[in-house]
Amino acid sequence: MPRLIAPAMASGLFSGSDHPELSVGPDVVLRAWRTADSAAVLEAFADPEIQRWHVRRADSVEEAAEWIAARQRGWAAETELNWALAEQRTGMLLGRMTLGGVDLCDGSAGLAYWMVPAARGRGLCTQAAQVLCRWAFDDAGFHRIGLEHSTANHGSCRVAVKAGFLAEGIRRGSALHADGWHDMHVHSRLATDVHAF
Ligand SMILES: CC(C)(COP(=O)(O)OP(=O)(O)OC[C@H]1O[C@@H](n2cnc3c(N)ncnc32)[C@H](O)[C@@H]1OP(=O)(O)O)[C@@H](O)C(=O)NCCC(=O)NCCS
Repeated sequence: MPRLIAPAMASGLFSGSDHPELSVGPDVVLRAWRTADSAAVLEAFADPEIQRWHVRRADSVEEAAEWIAARQRGWAAETELNWALAEQRTGMLLGRMTLGGVDLCDGSAGLAYWMVPAARGRGLCTQAAQVLCRWAFDDAGFHRIGLEHSTANHGSCRVAVKAGFLAEGIRRGSALHADGWHDMHVHSRLATDVHAF
């Protein structure tokens, strides 16, 4: 059946262009994932906090490489847009930023992130989320970026608020974690929100 409205974003927007590298600060960039990040991803998923909130572990460098390959395929498929947060000079992995669940018709996606333990507490996650949102709204043309975290994940909530995501409500018992069902706190930023970030 024909749609009555045009998609908010054209398909081919991402698959037909190179994956951009975004500057987050002195010597810190959001860049495309590299297979060479596999050992660092294996180490990241050994962290209990990343396991707790992302409900996954990696048992080998090969599994980490498969995870990276899946993230890399997301750009061409226009389903999820993934960045590694890394030191530019050394390439050292600092964290991860993802715009998942890309919906070109509605111009929306959901932001997710983790930081490796050694890179936490420096404001980097917040800065990277702000930089990625600026790109998503101003360059890519998204209308809405959502963000959900467990109501028990206070650090993630603080990042969301500091990065300009307004709280919308709570989806009760909507995500299954290792310790059971979690209520998920829903936030969003819209392209039309005043840019204070
Ligand atoms: C949550 C996480 C991404 C924060 O990364 P970070 O780089 O340390 O965040 P920032 O340095 O940008 O901190 C932003 C704010 O969050 C606060 N914060 C960070 N971690 C916190 C925690 N565990 N509890 C309470 N507040 C926390 C900081 O104090 C800061 O607020 P402030 O400026 O008012 O002091 C990181 O701890 C992490 O990767 N955790 C495990 C995975 C995870 O939770 N991912 C999100 C799933 S939804």
